[in-house]
Amino acid sequence: MTRNLNTPIRIQNTDIENRLWLAPMVGLSHVALRELIRHYGFCGLFFTEMCSAKRLESENPLFSSVFRWQEHELSRLVCQIAGDDPKHMILAAKRIEREGFFAVDINMGCSVSHIVKQGAGAALLKNPENALRVAKAVRDAVNIPVFIKFRVGWESNLDTALYLAQEFEKIGIDCLTFHPRIAPDRRTRPAKWEYVTELQSKTNLPIAGNGDIFSPTAAKDFFEKSQCAAISLGRIAVARPWIFSQIINDFSPEKNIYHDCPLLMLALLEKYYDAPAAIKLYKKFMLYFSANFRYNTFLRPKLVAGDSLDAFRENLRAFNLPEQEIAPNPSLNILC
Ligand SMILES: Cc1cc2nc3c(=O)[nH]c(=O)nc-3n(C[C@H](O)[C@H](O)[C@H](O)COP(=O)(O)O)c2cc1C
Repeated sequence: MTRNLNTPIRIQNTDIENRLWLAPMVGLSHVALRELIRHYGFCGLFFTEMCSAKRLESENPLFSSVFRWQEHELSRLVCQIAGDDPKHMILAAKRIEREGFFAVDINMGCSVSHIVKQGAGAALLKNPENALRVAKAVRDAVNIPVFIKFRVGWESNLDTALYLAQEFEKIGIDCLTFHPRIAPDRRTRPAKWEYVTELQSKTNLPIAGNGDIFSPTAAKDFFEKSQCAAISLGRIAVARPWIFSQIINDFSPEKNIYHDCPLLMLALLEKYYDAPAAIKLYKKFMLYFSANFRYNTFLRPKLVAGDSLDAFRENLRAFNLPEQEIAPNPSLNILC
């Protein structure tokens, strides 16, 4: 029987409408991108970018650029935290529960050097007992679902990931997101989806597979082949925020979307952020969005020229994106 990404999935006591989720991404998975994706529809679950557990204890959502949301998002919003000290992780998780988020997600996948140096993200995978201590502390602290996002680990075999997935299940973790790369590989080599298949076949926990899915066909194929429980989309969700709707609802975009979408993003950034923050976030969004165009190297600097949101609007008008040649597969290997 063909498996379907739009079959609901039960996490704890809640049915999530579909199995296609937005991945956490620093500077990208913010409240404005989430509203943009919601405009096109059909993303089952949204993850925030990682929030430092230590900072989260006192973070003010009115001023924070990362810990910010709309009330109506909360029932499908998972807040990701990063840290290695169970004390801070517990306080952060309790705050996330108090604020009304659907779930908390522990970052055990980030391999960016300043996070690893702090002992957080993928550094936790260097010592599985440490990872388990953090996971158990968070699990015991809250009643909402607890997710963990992790990757292969530091060695090119699945031993650590398999061991951890089975232990996570025993301590009552609800769902995993698995990125099938080793920590030193940032996104340079292709994700090894055969690892997702193997991990899912050896654990009962639902696993959302993540990595290098750039088209509706790839999403459906990898979901089918790996037998994983869900698919988590990162960079392609920034380049094509309508991809959820394409996959789940057969949405067929008109070319005008390449003009309307960044224009709406500008309006949303203006709605949620002050001008300096909105400008910075738009430039980051454009790194990925402009990958849609064959002449991206020429176009992107022109699209973000100027120092105001109005200048960016004018650039969109001047370069008339629906007239530009679309790259069949956006090249999203952007290291920043
Ligand atoms: C700019 C950027 C920021 C990211 N920030 C986070 C993060 O905050 N937490 C996390 O767990 N993963 C983070 N990731 C990793 C993504 O969640 C995802 O695992 C990775 O991009 C691979 O998926 P994709 O090929 O669908 O993009 C980030 C990735 C990018 C490109």
